[in-house]
Amino acid sequence: MKKLDVVKRIFAGRPFLQLQQTKGLAFAPTNIALCKYWGKRDALLNLPVTSSLSVALPDKGALTTITPNDADDDTIVLNNEPIPADSGFKKRTSDFIDLFRQDQPSLHFHLDIKMNIPVAAGLASSACGFAAITAALNDLCAWQLTPRDLSILARLGSGSAARSLWNGFVEWHAGVSPDGMDSYAEPLKYHWPELLIGLLPISHAKKSISSRKAMLQTVNSSPLYASWPRKVMQDLIIIKQALHGKNFSLLGGTAESNALSMHATMLSSWPPICYFYPETIAAMQKIWRLREDGLSLYFTEDAGPNLKLLFLHKHKEVIKEAFPEVEIIQLFEFAG
Ligand code: PMV
Repeated sequence: MKKLDVVKRIFAGRPFLQLQQTKGLAFAPTNIALCKYWGKRDALLNLPVTSSLSVALPDKGALTTITPNDADDDTIVLNNEPIPADSGFKKRTSDFIDLFRQDQPSLHFHLDIKMNIPVAAGLASSACGFAAITAALNDLCAWQLTPRDLSILARLGSGSAARSLWNGFVEWHAGVSPDGMDSYAEPLKYHWPELLIGLLPISHAKKSISSRKAMLQTVNSSPLYASWPRKVMQDLIIIKQALHGKNFSLLGGTAESNALSMHATMLSSWPPICYFYPETIAAMQKIWRLREDGLSLYFTEDAGPNLKLLFLHKHKEVIKEAFPEVEIIQLFEFAG
């Protein structure tokens, strides 16, 4: 099954790009997985081996404006900088829009993207990027698709984009169908105003290997990968229990163990994949030390060297003191 077949199925004979206004505008938040997506069962359709669960960073993400242009190619400006026509970023974006352009190949767009997170540094820039393009096209063309269908479309751009259409906690169901029509994300009803995330910058350099390539390498060569789906299945159940009962140490411990297990599959693949910098490990050791001393602090890490700290509002000041460079993100409205 090709991506275009999925799009056709979703639109069921309706035109893909019937413009309803002069511009489309959307913001999509980035998301941090507490139970990770690592490995695809279909690389073309970005279908995951396992389900995953994330939380959105409500004010961090991509604000995208899309307008038809008169040029013979798409043009992109990212954070006020024009993106070169021959860049990988431009190609991935245009390839994604091509999916909807089939019946109007000469229709091109100008995309103005404002991202307030570093690009391609393991902070899910592609997740919020493709989710925002999907939502902006939805705005431009008034598609009136269900959130489930929008999630499936965003997934065709980047897997984790399926989870970036909502604030709060979100679960992406892996699904079993070869066409991926049952592989979509949806928001979960849990609400946890006391829960905070701290972005601990280690390096904002572009990642050494893309998550797309790294996943493939892991699935194909890691002897540990066979145990990963079972680990995710257990962690998902525990994380939902922890969210339900607001059991912070259970949530933090499970999320940290999930992230480290994911990185263990990467380290054991060949050639090995290591997103840790020496400073990443030093920060982990500091977190473990603080935890031994009684502070309820955990971390998660994605395809990059930066850590995301998990802690409760009551420990905000202690965390700021221990990690002066941390950027603290409020995940929900906090009344306290
Ligand atoms: O959707 P991608 O290709 O950017 O992959 C995301 C992979 C992780 O961030 C490491 C895990 C996740 O679930 O977000």
